[in-house]
Amino acid sequence: GAEKAPLSRLEPDQFINDRYAAMEERLGVVRKRLNRPLSFAEKVVYGHLDDPQGQEIERGVSYLRLRPDRVAMQDATAQMAVLQFISSGLPTTAVPSTIHCDHLIEGTTAPQEDRDNSFGGQADLAHAIKTNKEVYDFLSSAGAKYGIGFWKPGSGIIHQIVLENYAFPGGMMIGTDSHTPNAGGLGMCAVGVGGADAVDVMAGLPWELKAPKVIGVKLTGKLSKWNSPKDIICKVAGILTVKGGTGAIVEYYGPGVDNISCTGMGTICNMGAEIGATTSMFPFNKRQYDYLVATGREPIAKLADAFRENLRADEGAEYDQTIELNLSELEPQINGPFTPDLAHTLSEFAEALKTNKWPTELKAGLIGSCTNSSYEDMQRAASVARQALDAGIKAKVPFTITPGSEQIRATIERDGLIDIFNKVGGTVLANACGPCIGQWKRTEIKKGEANSIITSYNRNFAARNDGNPATHAFVTSPELVTAFAIAGDLTFNPEKDTLVGADGKEIKLQPPTGDELPAKGFDAGVETYQAPAPGQVEVKVDPNSSRLQLLEPFKPWDGKDVEDALVLIKVKGKCTTDHISMAGPWLKFRGHLDNISNNMLIGALNSENEQVNSVKNQITGEYGPVPAVARDYKARGLEWVVVGDENYGEGSSREHAALEPRHLGARAVLVKSFARIHETNLKKQGLLPLTFANPADYDKVGPFDKISIKGLTDFQPGKPLTVVGKKPDGETYEFPVNQTFNDNQIEWFKAGSALNAMGKDKK
Ligand code: F3S
Repeated sequence: GAEKAPLSRLEPDQFINDRYAAMEERLGVVRKRLNRPLSFAEKVVYGHLDDPQGQEIERGVSYLRLRPDRVAMQDATAQMAVLQFISSGLPTTAVPSTIHCDHLIEGTTAPQEDRDNSFGGQADLAHAIKTNKEVYDFLSSAGAKYGIGFWKPGSGIIHQIVLENYAFPGGMMIGTDSHTPNAGGLGMCAVGVGGADAVDVMAGLPWELKAPKVIGVKLTGKLSKWNSPKDIICKVAGILTVKGGTGAIVEYYGPGVDNISCTGMGTICNMGAEIGATTSMFPFNKRQYDYLVATGREPIAKLADAFRENLRADEGAEYDQTIELNLSELEPQINGPFTPDLAHTLSEFAEALKTNKWPTELKAGLIGSCTNSSYEDMQRAASVARQALDAGIKAKVPFTITPGSEQIRATIERDGLIDIFNKVGGTVLANACGPCIGQWKRTEIKKGEANSIITSYNRNFAARNDGNPATHAFVTSPELVTAFAIAGDLTFNPEKDTLVGADGKEIKLQPPTGDELPAKGFDAGVETYQAPAPGQVEVKVDPNSSRLQLLEPFKPWDGKDVEDALVLIKVKGKCTTDHISMAGPWLKFRGHLDNISNNMLIGALNSENEQVNSVKNQITGEYGPVPAVARDYKARGLEWVVVGDENYGEGSSREHAALEPRHLGARAVLVKSFARIHETNLKKQGLLPLTFANPADYDKVGPFDKISIKGLTDFQPGKPLTVVGKKPDGETYEFPVNQTFNDNQIEWFKAGSALNAMGKDKK
């Protein structure tokens, strides 16, 4: 066989050879069954099927059960995921998993009093370590104990660390962050998921995904001058819009692919999240080979090369939709404001600003982030900055640089790029998300003040970067951001306009240049990784913490039907997971189930009084906030149910929307229809998601009724249950309700939760 290729330098005892062998075997079965050419995306997805023989496979229709190779979590979403994993009682995660401390670090662009007037990456990092100590302590101790690799604050942004260390061609990964698809630049099928999915996979359950459609993007030609990989995805976003990729994997192919660096492919896949795609993927090629070698993974490069037939599309593979782009004809793109699919070409941008009355004066330029912080990006941006320095001028506006990882930071420092950025007036922020996720302490603009900024990030929805809804954020390549920051004016077009140097002479910026990979190799910088140390570690959670709370496993089913549960709220109209568990300021409690439960259903409309967060307590007769009334019932030992309308629980897959009702004593959620993911999440927490067999029965249930659910002692897949309702005057009614539990899920219900069920047979 081929030389052994470890999964990563940090996991020397696990081998990609085994993963490829399993993939080949599964693909053999699937090929026989489907008997048609496969796209690259299909090969990787079907190569990870739990049951390649029995699984139904129809793109856009069947639900696939998959076995991902690994899990990655960022520190905000990891908190509840890890807490849930701990509550399962399992000793270690079933697949290699990592935690990345990147989301909780603020970036400052001006001296701050509470930080001794210091600012920039070092000060920001020190400040974050102080304010988030309990979260970091918890994650690092739990990581050590349960076998999860822990990347300390300062190590870098999850997606960059994954690309540098863990991504491999043909692999499959899930990550609790929307830009997980970044690893598609290295040929991985990497999908952003909610915490509930991460918990399942860590606990050894298969991961469910609707068989993705495949959108083929054929690239021809070559990028030149001011063009960069960012323009490709900005252009594709303009074509497909923010919804155009939903339910699909975007697969790139064609001769143009070989003209893009591996990290450039990462940028394209990263921002594929902006079109709603499941993920984006590039087939294995020489550029990926070179990147693997440069990041110390030559054995993987060689192994992938030997396996390359499975790492690209078959001749004649069919796509559900195709787009063709000629890179030689592409113009630099600038997208925004307020939505990433509003694409403008550089030559038309000044006009668009004027027509739409968007502020043309630039107030800040920000480069780096998970999207665009490769060595190549930094070199190209620095090549623009250097021209300004040579002409004796500096950035006119605050200009920040976010290295994606400690390795990038150390390498660009060694190679003199940080020096250039500093000299041109830039601020190098910590290796973390910072302003990309709204962690930006920005003092020079007041909230509500209309202003424009330009970034090399991916997302630009209102208030995303600085919390100010009047900030117009535009998205483009780092090299263009640098040029704009030097000009201080968004109507500037570096392709034709000139700047004035310190000597009064006009200068014209030359197109950026830069090496794809560092000639002297990467400098790893400071060690920021903590390896798992299963065994004696104690998980640190302060019992007085407001941010973290260990979870108690939920109680198993008592073997009886539900009797006389109270209707807590009969919801009218739209009820998304945001109505059920609001985000915003509540997110600071995401690791503390009891505290965050105080937001339960506070956004849902009560059909009885047409108000939000006001329901009548059926025992006291008084109106109160929904969570308070639920707590009162729970304290009295009374069970309750929620009644809802159509598509209940649509929106993001937030697991808190299912955990909170379970925690506060719910038994069932009875609605006209469910959003599928939420329905599954409720089952995972041991609740009963039920639908009216006859939707008109919604009207039979009054807001002050008592609900009994019959048939649980003979709970079977496909068999309806019966609701018996009791009005306050004693009158009763009865109707059938449907449920979609399979055998496995009925076991979850009986055990009290999916995790209890997993823990039971694995402990
Ligand atoms: Fe996400 Fe930006 Fe961080 S897209 S991972 S918030 S750098």
